[in-house]
Amino acid sequence: MGLPIAEQQSEVYEDPLDLIDEIEALKAEKDVKILAHFYVDGDIQDIADYTGDSLKLARDAVSIESSTIVFCGVHFMGESAKILSPEKTVLIPDLLAGCSLAESCQAPELKARQDELRAQGRDIVTVAYINTSAAVKSLCDWIVTSGNAREIIERIPKDQEILFVPDQHLGRYLMEVTGREMILWPGSCMVHEIFSLQDLLRAKKNNPGSAVISHPECPQNILEVSDFIGGTEKMRQYVKSVEQPTTFLVATESAMIHPLQKIAPQHTYLPVPGIMESTGETCACNRCPHMERNTLKKVRDCIKNGTPQIEWLSYFDQAKGVLERSLLKPS
Ligand code: 13P
Ligand code: SF4
Repeated sequence: MGLPIAEQQSEVYEDPLDLIDEIEALKAEKDVKILAHFYVDGDIQDIADYTGDSLKLARDAVSIESSTIVFCGVHFMGESAKILSPEKTVLIPDLLAGCSLAESCQAPELKARQDELRAQGRDIVTVAYINTSAAVKSLCDWIVTSGNAREIIERIPKDQEILFVPDQHLGRYLMEVTGREMILWPGSCMVHEIFSLQDLLRAKKNNPGSAVISHPECPQNILEVSDFIGGTEKMRQYVKSVEQPTTFLVATESAMIHPLQKIAPQHTYLPVPGIMESTGETCACNRCPHMERNTLKKVRDCIKNGTPQIEWLSYFDQAKGVLERSLLKPS
């Protein structure tokens, strides 16, 4: 899925090299640092001052010293950066870069579910994946990322029940690795949900000796045939640790191949195709349409215009405490 037709037509072509020069000059002039998630286009990752997974970028947002951050990722990432570093201006290239997981869990529905469970006399702790809105985070006890989820869940006293939101697949995987039962929210990521098991098995057969690396947001049938399961940073560290040149079948957002190639160029990386539910046809839908909204032109424009930016909202105060306790405090 690309940009809506109207948006595509209004995009005037500009030479990427000119855009990069302009961005570099504007960054220096306006005291800006660019943070980019591993799922944005490689050319944006290459001009970023910091790249990383959700956990590292949230921490970078706090530690860097510039007055302005441009967060190339999706809305909840920019929001988390603002909450953790309120004194900085946080710009995001496109306000419409959302996340299907974050969308699947709205604050009023979460509040209703918590009230329902508490009315049954159940002592629940709510653990949210960072892929949630700040309004949802403000209702939670812990925030986890793919990088620290296991460690945080293992810290929660065993006599407390865990309500895990919003990713059912990550939740199921965490139940398996921690041995903790959890009540799962029925959300999922539109990209990881649709990998085709059939095509993956075919690719494995066609590439003898290949290994499958998967993000834990993938459904169980994909994880079951995976040789390595981990978030984006763990994936990077894993391929780096493998010395023997290997063909990796990559079951996550396909822009991830860029940082994998950079850190471990001795390997071959093949994206796992998706399958469209409506037609059953194989598709190249392993790109996140939200991450794809980040373009060099929009990066340039947001630095130049100082907009769009994440504005401070009343419930950010509550979300701040939870985010800091979960992501910044040593365990
Ligand atoms: P990571 O924290 O593993 O980078 O994942 C972010 C994300 O949005 C996965 O879909
Ligand atoms: Fe959200 Fe999935 Fe895109 Fe990650 S890849 S930002 S979970 S929609």
